[in-house]
Amino acid sequence: MKKYLQFVVLLSIISFATCIKSQDSNISSQKRRLHFDEKGEFKIIQFADLHFGETDLKDLLSVSLMNYLIEMYHPNFAALTGDMVSGYAWDNTTTFYQRNWKKYTSPFGLHNLSYSIILGNHDDQANLNRTQIMDLDMTNPHSYSNKSVPGLPEGSNYYLIIYENATSNVPKAVLWFLDTHDHECEDNTNSWGCIQRIQVEWFENEITKINKQYDNLLHVAFYHIPLPEYVTLYNNYKVYGTRGESVGCPQINTGFFQTMKNNNVRAGFCGHDHNNDYGGFIEGVELVYGRKTGFGCYGPQQDKMRGARLLHLNLQGNQTPSFYHEILQADGTRKQNGEATYRYDKDEEACGSTAGLQYPDTQPKTKRRSEL
Ligand SMILES: *[C@@H]1O[C@H](CO)[C@@H](O)[C@H](O)[C@H]1NC(C)=O
Ligand SMILES: *[C@@H]1O[C@H](CO)[C@@H](O)[C@H](O)[C@H]1NC(C)=O
Ligand SMILES: *[C@@H]1O[C@H](CO)[C@@H](O)[C@H](O)[C@H]1NC(C)=O
Ligand SMILES: *[C@@H]1O[C@H](CO)[C@@H](O)[C@H](O)[C@H]1NC(C)=O
Ligand SMILES: *[C@@H]1O[C@H](CO)[C@@H](O)[C@H](O)[C@H]1NC(C)=O
Ligand SMILES: *[C@@H]1O[C@H](CO)[C@@H](O)[C@H](O)[C@H]1NC(C)=O
Repeated sequence: MKKYLQFVVLLSIISFATCIKSQDSNISSQKRRLHFDEKGEFKIIQFADLHFGETDLKDLLSVSLMNYLIEMYHPNFAALTGDMVSGYAWDNTTTFYQRNWKKYTSPFGLHNLSYSIILGNHDDQANLNRTQIMDLDMTNPHSYSNKSVPGLPEGSNYYLIIYENATSNVPKAVLWFLDTHDHECEDNTNSWGCIQRIQVEWFENEITKINKQYDNLLHVAFYHIPLPEYVTLYNNYKVYGTRGESVGCPQINTGFFQTMKNNNVRAGFCGHDHNNDYGGFIEGVELVYGRKTGFGCYGPQQDKMRGARLLHLNLQGNQTPSFYHEILQADGTRKQNGEATYRYDKDEEACGSTAGLQYPDTQPKTKRRSEL
């Protein structure tokens, strides 16, 4: 608990600031174009696995941590990469998701911060299905979320263009959001969910069109469940960060990584495995975990603080924007990724069967395997 002392002290300051600011927190903000700021920067904060809905105290702490990191680091955008709500903690009311959605989106009204969501495997386990959650989120003036186009599986598949500046019509970066669903990948019912082949085809069509039209775009992707290549990465390539549990990836490879690579996507960011925050490169494509943000459910690992990942995108004239990222921790410190190294332990249990899977109760679990 000691490591949260500073955070708890700050909590009271933040609550005070919240009182002051809430007077103008409902200023309506029109849907705007996303663009690099006056400094030529676009900073994205990735909130991973917020897990609202378990207890009021945990929700209060999660909101406070989000507010704290936003106030401290002033991102231009927030990407919520799934499992914003612990659907398994459903109280059987028809307002459960809506109430928790109000909580987890409150920092964006307070700070006038644009954001968007993708769905995890737990979001749709309560009273709203995937389409209904996306419809709800799209009513928020700060939300840039979008639904899958007709023909794709229901949920969160879309992209957002970041323009050069407030007035320019020149796109400089594209953020891709892909829905990995719940369980089942293609026809394998024993698997974690995945980006299905039909989504990969949609993605390939769209990105090909965009890359034909514009040069030097920076492409970055977000999805909840890690790709099978996260295992390949850990077992065979140099990685930075921590692997605290087996990778919960699908058992089928639907080719998303290869399609990212073929179309110049620079990096992909996931959540899902709360005790993992590692990343590294395979053939020029960086695969990265976020840092567990929310106080619900298990993780992060006991020697780690909750936090978020901050992506820095920077304009480079006519070149492709440059890009790096780091972890923001709950005590306000930032943690660089550090040097990547080969690891001697191997992930032998990855992409394991989800047969017999039981949803965790609201007690934090120390090991993910106990959840399976
Ligand atoms: C904020 O909301 C309140 C109550 O809904 C309303 O009376 C007020 O005019 C709103 N303020 C702004 C600035 O929109
Ligand atoms: C919700 O309803 C189910 C089925 O009736 C029941 O088993 C469960 O205990 C209920 N949950 C709560 C939190 O009331
Ligand atoms: C909210 O942010 C947008 C730009 O992101 C800006 O245009 C707008 O003026 C801001 N609104 C307030 C109330 O600060
Ligand atoms: C989700 O809910 C909407 C509205 O009730 C309904 O039209 C749609 O068919 C549902 N989707 C699924 C997959 O059940
Ligand atoms: C959602 O995506 C569709 C299809 O790409 C696009 O036509 C529409 O403008 C998007 N809506 C929003 C609110 O971004
Ligand atoms: C936006 O970019 C265009 C094209 O590079 C440039 O002409 C214009 O001055 C820029 N505007 C601002 C506000 O920086």
